[in-house]
Amino acid sequence: MLRPVSRQAHRTLRHRNILPSTVRYTSVSSPSSSELLSRSAAELPNAPNTAYSAVTHPIPAAEPSSRTRETLALARDHILPVYARPPIVLERGKGSWVWDCDGRKYLDFTGGIAVNALGHADEGVSEMLKSQSSKLLHSSNAFYNEPAVALASLLVTLTKREGGLGYPTGTRDAPGGPGAKVFFGNSGTEANEGALKVARKVGKDRGGATKTEIVCFQQSFHGRSFGALSVTSTSKYQDPFVPLVPGVRVGVLNQSEGLEDLITENTCAVIVEPIQGEGGVNSVDVQWMRKLVQRARQTGAVVIFDEIQCGLYRTGALWAHSSWPVECHPDIVTMAKPLANGYPIGAVLMRDIIAKTMTAGTHGTTFGGSPLACSIGFHVLDRLSQGEFVSHLKRTSALLLRRLERLSGWFPELVGRIRGRGFIIGIALLREGDPQRVIELARERGLLLLPAGKDCVRLVPSLNVSEAEVSHAADVIESCLSLL
Ligand SMILES: Cc1ncc(COP(=O)(O)O)c(C=O)c1O
Repeated sequence: MLRPVSRQAHRTLRHRNILPSTVRYTSVSSPSSSELLSRSAAELPNAPNTAYSAVTHPIPAAEPSSRTRETLALARDHILPVYARPPIVLERGKGSWVWDCDGRKYLDFTGGIAVNALGHADEGVSEMLKSQSSKLLHSSNAFYNEPAVALASLLVTLTKREGGLGYPTGTRDAPGGPGAKVFFGNSGTEANEGALKVARKVGKDRGGATKTEIVCFQQSFHGRSFGALSVTSTSKYQDPFVPLVPGVRVGVLNQSEGLEDLITENTCAVIVEPIQGEGGVNSVDVQWMRKLVQRARQTGAVVIFDEIQCGLYRTGALWAHSSWPVECHPDIVTMAKPLANGYPIGAVLMRDIIAKTMTAGTHGTTFGGSPLACSIGFHVLDRLSQGEFVSHLKRTSALLLRRLERLSGWFPELVGRIRGRGFIIGIALLREGDPQRVIELARERGLLLLPAGKDCVRLVPSLNVSEAEVSHAADVIESCLSLL
């Protein structure tokens, strides 16, 4: 069933030919609760699974195909070697599965690093890509286009409905009420760069030439451009590129002491991830966030939530902060990764009171807000926001958590806490080097995982992953831990 806001938006967009009539929702499997309960009980074994102890996907492949060999050789010669990658060449995907050029199949729990919310090769996304690209692909920001306006409106409407950005859950669209504006870019970095620029300008409006400092937090990750890198407080990313943007102060996540000294009258922006992704799946404590936002309001600093990895339904709600009280909400939210399921897009969503400082010419982009990116973004966001989709996600992510929470009991010397919520989950490992070992062992058994921070294995699968796939991933992880 479509929810009212979505049904209406769909009708309008179909009518205006923004959504092709051929786009169909791919249904998510939706078992009844009794079915789920009996299956979950069966799926919660009393001992760790050891069925996947043998290597099924040797890496490198014992006899790699000529395509694999040639691609790796060309990459060695011509691709800037800034990524440490295993010698696997991916060729195609479907749902939560990918295949390499040697015909081997992997269960993808990296989700393209929290991007492929609807999985690989989704039919609705492909259909939208085809139809919009044959109609109007790019037109530049010298002109309006309907998909950008539709996506911006949907983002604001959903934020009001679900809560976030100062709107309590269930806020209705009402003419004349407090509004919000969207700026579209092409990536997460660019969204954060835009948000920092907006906050700088607000700072100057509010406090003059000295209100320019920015506060960020240890282990944060906000991107690789100079502005975003300057607030990404991890030395391995920053050190080779100093000097960075001056006037950045670094706080400790969830530490209340010293907030008065950290955020001052000179602070124009405070940027924070409600759940740090790259830094190790570290969640912000809501009581700490209340104090942080309160201090920012006292000093007139703009609060930016970077929800690029944790937002857009990854936690089971539109925003990781949707369920928090409004006094813990930000002034600006940045997003990117899953918004167009892998087609490049990023966006900055801000309250009108913040947006009013930005006038024609103060910021811009050539590609951002293209009809193609925004029509895919609309399609993806509309599907993610369906009640049926969200309840499926909540059930499958709860199953994953129940499975993973047993690990520390079975492997007390290896496994610490399970961190995160929904489908942004970190398994903390106690011994140095084990995250990489587990990732390699899992890969050799056909399961793709990611690291995070210094001590963590990260699971950020597609949001429509099935219960069977979640159970399979948990089985393989248990087998790998048994091998350690
Ligand atoms: C929280 C967060 N912010 C910003 C970024 C940068 O996004 P992008 O790589 O799209 O520029 C990332 C990427 O991993 C991220 O996780």
